[in-house]
Amino acid sequence: MPKPFVKAGTMNSIKVHNASVTYNQLPVLWDVDMDLPTGRLIGIVGQNGSGKSTLLKAIMGLVPLSSGNVKIFEQDLDTIRTEVAYVPQRESVDWNFPASVQEIVRMGRYQPGRLFQRLTKLDHQLVEDALKKVNMLSFKNRQIGELSGGQQQRVFIARALAQGAKLYLLDEPFVGVDVATEKAIMDLLIEMKKEGKTIVIVHHDLHSVTSLFDYLVMLNTRMIAHGAIDEVLTTENLNATFGGQLNLFAQLQQIIKERDFPIREKGFEEK
Ligand SMILES: Nc1ncnc2c1ncn2[C@@H]1O[C@H](COP(=O)(O)OP(=O)(O)OP(=O)(O)O)[C@@H](O)[C@H]1O
Ligand SMILES: [Mg+2]
Repeated sequence: MPKPFVKAGTMNSIKVHNASVTYNQLPVLWDVDMDLPTGRLIGIVGQNGSGKSTLLKAIMGLVPLSSGNVKIFEQDLDTIRTEVAYVPQRESVDWNFPASVQEIVRMGRYQPGRLFQRLTKLDHQLVEDALKKVNMLSFKNRQIGELSGGQQQRVFIARALAQGAKLYLLDEPFVGVDVATEKAIMDLLIEMKKEGKTIVIVHHDLHSVTSLFDYLVMLNTRMIAHGAIDEVLTTENLNATFGGQLNLFAQLQQIIKERDFPIREKGFEEK
């Protein structure tokens, strides 16, 4: 399969057009349109049940769209699947299946649709490198079910790293992860962004969105807003995204008042 050449900033990473998803005839994503840039750290925020995980699954082709379509680097997912790494939300994974840490991370090196593959020396090296990056190499022979929540999350991130993808979709990667690990993972993601990777993260801690991301998607079944963080984080958008949660809303207004955008870089190109 030919690998398309994708240069950061020259095209959209994900284009979602008029996408709707319904479960039992109830819409959980409704007419969502968005173009996400490449080479950014992008946050997706919204309240519980607002469709954040469904949006990632729709991008990954894991739930059927009742209308609309998705393009990744301007192509269909099937032609570009190896360039996309997905880390599901922790509670949606069955952690009791019998597999070692190493086996999980090796899955990142298998090509979809090819049976009986043997991994090469380079594949094994990439698996070790990925485990080292998340500081889990010494656990490589442990069963995944025997790890703590944060360790399991790090193994799944290592699998995504081993894949060497250009686009990373991470669903709440910091849940159950201690502060030091969160910082280490975030540093890793910032490094990846500098290498031109695109990282999309569903994140629910609003206090840290301004320091983590440079681009934000605000979702409430419908697309409320997406864009550079200091443009979309307005009172109106926050109200439409989190409306009804008044306590939270008061906190958010405080965040808006106090915010400065430490992650924004000089010369950062606006979309
Ligand atoms: N397999 C399913 N069958 C039926 N309804 C579902 C299914 N998966 C999700 N839903 C419903 O779709 C809506 C959106 O769910 P989704 O998991 O996308 O929300 P979310 O924004 O990721 O929430 P959270 O912050 O709790 O992770 C919710 O109302 C949920 O109950
Ligand atoms: Mg979710």
